[in-house]
Amino acid sequence: MRFTTFTALAIVLASMAVAAPAPSAMRVKESVTMPSGWVRRGPVAAGTEIPLSIALKQRAFADLESEILAVSDPKSPRYGKFLSREQVSSYLTPSAESAAAVRRWLEEHSVKEDLSRRSFAGDWVRATVPVERASAMLGGAEFAEFLNERTGEVVVRALEYSVPESVFDHVDLVGPTTYFGKPLAHRAPSRIAEWLPVGYKPHADETVVHADNRLAVNVAAAVPPPACTTTNQTTLTCIRQLYGTIDYKVQKPNSQFIGISGFLEEYPNDKDFNQFLSTERPDALAANYKYRLTQIDGGGNNQSKPGVEANLDVQTVAAISFNIPSTYYSNGGRPPFNPDQATPTNTNEPYTTEFEYLLSQQTIPSVVSTSYGDDEQTVPRDYAVRVCGEIAGLAARGVSMVFSSGDNGVGSDGNCVSNDGKKTRKFLPAFPASCPYSITVGGTEAYAPEVAVSSKIGGFFAGGGFSEYFARPAYQDNAVKGYLKTLGKKHAGLFNPNGRAYPDIAAQASRYLIVVGGRYVRVGGTSASGPTIASIIALLNDARAAVGRPNLGWINPLLYYGQPEQVLTDITSGSSAGCDTDGFPAAKGWDPVTGFGTPNFKKLLAAATA
Ligand SMILES: *[C@@H]1O[C@H](CO)[C@@H](O)[C@H](O)[C@H]1NC(C)=O
Ligand SMILES: *[C@@H]1O[C@H](CO)[C@@H](O)[C@H](O)[C@H]1NC(C)=O
Repeated sequence: MRFTTFTALAIVLASMAVAAPAPSAMRVKESVTMPSGWVRRGPVAAGTEIPLSIALKQRAFADLESEILAVSDPKSPRYGKFLSREQVSSYLTPSAESAAAVRRWLEEHSVKEDLSRRSFAGDWVRATVPVERASAMLGGAEFAEFLNERTGEVVVRALEYSVPESVFDHVDLVGPTTYFGKPLAHRAPSRIAEWLPVGYKPHADETVVHADNRLAVNVAAAVPPPACTTTNQTTLTCIRQLYGTIDYKVQKPNSQFIGISGFLEEYPNDKDFNQFLSTERPDALAANYKYRLTQIDGGGNNQSKPGVEANLDVQTVAAISFNIPSTYYSNGGRPPFNPDQATPTNTNEPYTTEFEYLLSQQTIPSVVSTSYGDDEQTVPRDYAVRVCGEIAGLAARGVSMVFSSGDNGVGSDGNCVSNDGKKTRKFLPAFPASCPYSITVGGTEAYAPEVAVSSKIGGFFAGGGFSEYFARPAYQDNAVKGYLKTLGKKHAGLFNPNGRAYPDIAAQASRYLIVVGGRYVRVGGTSASGPTIASIIALLNDARAAVGRPNLGWINPLLYYGQPEQVLTDITSGSSAGCDTDGFPAAKGWDPVTGFGTPNFKKLLAAATA
């Protein structure tokens, strides 16, 4: 006993003799195995600048979540009383203690924060530091160049990093470090890279064109027919007839605007837009209707490079929601990466750039349509949680955050294993589709009856499934438990029955006839159904504005606690085939293929303005 006591005393004395406080011990924050498809290419050139994003713990995120329900649940007395920018920020701002701990950590390493890139709430702090210093800050993290063998994309990442004990509990994550998501090419954050799903077989009357080495487009045989008479091509006029918006006249065009997310150097083309309007919305062309374009974080606007996704999004939104203004957000984030030059590589972190920008603005869209997504497991959990938190923040402000559900059913065939090194066979849910605050949109095809999109017409199966990161929110309990009961033991073990289930709603996702590069082309994907739903929500907002009602915002409580069968057409046939299985079957009521179904605008309108 004595001996021990003496020893302890000796240690105390020894440490008192040191002038500076002992450096805090390091603790592993995250450790991942290399996702399949990537190889370590080699070391990072000395002096390479690494842009670090540090996510500080938010002060009161759980309280923000109750606020979202309070303003989005129609039964709540505060329904529609959305939060201001400052109110949302007050929940997200880190505590003074967290801010100080991170400040000290940066100072210890002589790292200067890039104040211009701090988020509005101060919950993201950024700095660009040479790789040697980044490694020292992160407990000797071994940064290296990693190559995606399929796309040729090169990123600088580390498979493990640590932070000092003194900041461990104050920081959610340091990015991009372990983020191997596939935002650049491969499949995400958009479905563009594999616009047509893996193994897509063109129909007899189709030609597949590869543009930009990444895109595949169906070239339409003819100019648009007037309506939905065949399944050969889905004109926007047909969509407007099918869902019943065609006679609706916008009443308060300046009371809101629609936001459209753009990543991956996807730019909408002005000439294509006008050509499209000439056949689908001549009234909009006559009114000189345009979309606006906002460039975020170095996002471009190259009119010589029309993007299929970008054109699909702006054209769909314009055709359905004219003359509600729309804004295309062109996000930067993919400068050519030259690993030999000592200039900053991009963080390659999609979503947060745009969502942080929106959270920092006083005036924001009423609806944001995002047709991009990753396999959830390729997005580190901590990062997904933060992005979902930003979606939540925007939901609290009354924005309907609409996301496509994905184009590979429950996961792309031949690819359905866990990336934790164990290669467990499982379905692959998509993110941000899986965020509980997303309004997630599945896909349909055909007209009488409308069925879940499939290989028959659309050439793909819409994404659907259950999150492995996000628990099932209470609002889904009844709907999802009912479905699971019907499902029985089918696919047991391949998915997380307790996870946030998606999609919530659906729309046509096949053979949209749009204009790209001066030609009419047919494009399919939940990238098409997403903007369709976003536009219809905006039309409902318009009708509500005309009778003095607030925007619909995050509609999930309305859907799940309400009577969706009275305002949506339940889609009961088809499935979300994938992972070499027949996937989840569509069913009566909610299902993880088409959600509650597709819009019946006349009925929605009556309900939204009742
Ligand atoms: C529509 O598709 C069917 C079957 O693929 C084909 O026989 C028909 O010629 C097409 N019609 C038009 C107008 O392209
Ligand atoms: C715009 O896109 C065209 C076609 O891809 C390309 O040749 C040109 O270099 C691009 N311009 C800029 C400024 O990036």
